[in-house]
Amino acid sequence: MEIAKSIQEIRAQVAALKAEGKRVAFVPTMGALHEGHLSLIKMAHKHADAIVVSIYVNPEQFGPNEDFSTYPRTTESDLALCEKEDVAVVFLPDTETMYGSGKKFFSIEIEELNTYLDGGSRPGYFQGIALVVNKLFNIVQPDVAVFGQKDYQQFRIIEQMVIEFNHDIELLMAPIGRAEDGLALSSRNVYLSEQERVVAPSLYRALSYVEQQIKNGVFQPHLLLKHQQDELEAKGFKNDYLSVYSLDTLAPVQELEKGQRYVLAGAAYLGKTRLIDNLIFEI
Ligand code: PAJ
Repeated sequence: MEIAKSIQEIRAQVAALKAEGKRVAFVPTMGALHEGHLSLIKMAHKHADAIVVSIYVNPEQFGPNEDFSTYPRTTESDLALCEKEDVAVVFLPDTETMYGSGKKFFSIEIEELNTYLDGGSRPGYFQGIALVVNKLFNIVQPDVAVFGQKDYQQFRIIEQMVIEFNHDIELLMAPIGRAEDGLALSSRNVYLSEQERVVAPSLYRALSYVEQQIKNGVFQPHLLLKHQQDELEAKGFKNDYLSVYSLDTLAPVQELEKGQRYVLAGAAYLGKTRLIDNLIFEI
């Protein structure tokens, strides 16, 4: 496994793989790798001949009161996991490499797709993600890139960015990797206390319950969602959002229609840990 730290190095590594006729898949991450990330690498292997993983905690996607400085950084064990998953190259840039030190004149603005869900609660978050992923795509120039459904809004925004900025990259979405009790795996789960960890799967259970009720015919789920939020609050969560959104526009939907696909998504704090989760379904 190669480790590339500079743009020159990663470009040379990818060029060498492509010169061997290999189809290159890219899995961008912020490290602190867990089984969810590894499932993306496994999916990448099914669609390509060589895998590039990037590990970079992108400061541009953290708000001033968010956890940039405390975000888990476990590079040594991440590299061992990548090696085990037969990754060809790990791109490990620092911030000087990604952003340089000169004044910046450009940014990426996003219309509508970031109005709700995490976009509504975390100003600048998806602009920071779009910026870094756009740069990573230009640097790595993979044939295919894999993202997780765990961050569905991120996937949808990047999907649209690829179309509008004409990146010649196929995108794949991997299902959400979960612990046995249903909790969506996340690098931030290490923040949970033992007690919080026991309660944490309630968010997934609430989503599953609402999905079942919708499938049973509740097409105006507003009260149902409100009730689930109250139950989560009673268990110690502080709700951010819990709603059904259009899979395409990510706008909230009040009245569901047969034959349509939706994403039922929730976000809530448990102590200082922000948990997100979602289910994609069709009626
Ligand atoms: P990070 O949170 O490290 O996640 C990297 C990728 O792993 C994302 O595509 C995310 O959706 C996916 N992922 C995380 N947890 C998952 C789970 N439980 N199941 C399936 N996939 C999961 O997302 C980012 O980093 C950053 O925003 C990034 C795209 C790297 C840009 O900085």
